[in-house]
Amino acid sequence: MHNLDITKKKFGPDPLNPNPLLDTAFLKAVVTSPNIEVGNFSYYNDPKGPEKFQDHCVKYHFDFIGDKLKIGKFCAFATDIQFIMNGANHAMTGFSTFPFNVFAEGWKGGFDPSTITAGYRGDTVVGNDVWIGREALIMPGVTIGDGSIIGTRAVVAKDVPPYSIVVGNPGKIVRKRFDDTTIDALLDIAWWDWPVDHLTKALNAIRGNDIEVLKSMKPNIET
Ligand SMILES: CC(C)(COP(=O)(O)OP(=O)(O)OC[C@H]1O[C@@H](n2cnc3c(N)ncnc32)[C@H](O)[C@@H]1OP(=O)(O)O)[C@@H](O)C(=O)NCCC(=O)NCCS
Repeated sequence: MHNLDITKKKFGPDPLNPNPLLDTAFLKAVVTSPNIEVGNFSYYNDPKGPEKFQDHCVKYHFDFIGDKLKIGKFCAFATDIQFIMNGANHAMTGFSTFPFNVFAEGWKGGFDPSTITAGYRGDTVVGNDVWIGREALIMPGVTIGDGSIIGTRAVVAKDVPPYSIVVGNPGKIVRKRFDDTTIDALLDIAWWDWPVDHLTKALNAIRGNDIEVLKSMKPNIET
């Protein structure tokens, strides 16, 4: 059952297709797994069908493992990105990585689950306002900080601090988007948590780059 109530009509005509000219869907409207958490307005673009995000982009995500994919608000995900989850792991503590226990009854006995859980890296966390470029791949347990950009086909295997630009394989930070003082201010402002009607009024400050103007728009909200 899709959760279609993420936007009021006036802020997004159709949660499954926020812009009829683009092959996009708000993730909150199409994600059904209880192990994927998604913030409002984060979207996935895919001409093959953005509603297939969960099956197409989140791999080896097994309920019995219970690891979570947590995605913040206002993230923009390009076509064919991949989240590799912990279920992708084979046991690496012994001489062989072959998953004998999966294939034959006679080979199940004696399997020690801790040999595989030892390699688990925990939840994958994507902050708010993160743009992930086409065909980028995110490895298990990675945290991507607010405001970061992941370049086309990057392979992200380590945590990414807020407002970083990461490219390549293995993904490396090529630069920070802003100086540290501005980044601290942006994290404090956290415009993605503002009430949507206020955010709508402040759009020019959010898409601008004058931090004092943005600070001046911060509403007085206690969360
Ligand atoms: C990362 C990106 C945002 C550019 O950021 P930028 O800070 O302006 O980076 P630059 O273009 O100055 O490049 C910085 C360095 O990274 C390299 N680089 C840039 N993008 C790269 C990528 N995707 N993969 C590998 N290297 C990349 C550049 O060659 C350059 O290398 P150098 O320092 O050795 O010269 C852009 O290249 C990108 O990948 N955008 C995603 C586009 C996309 O997938 N869109 C899908 C539809 S939304």
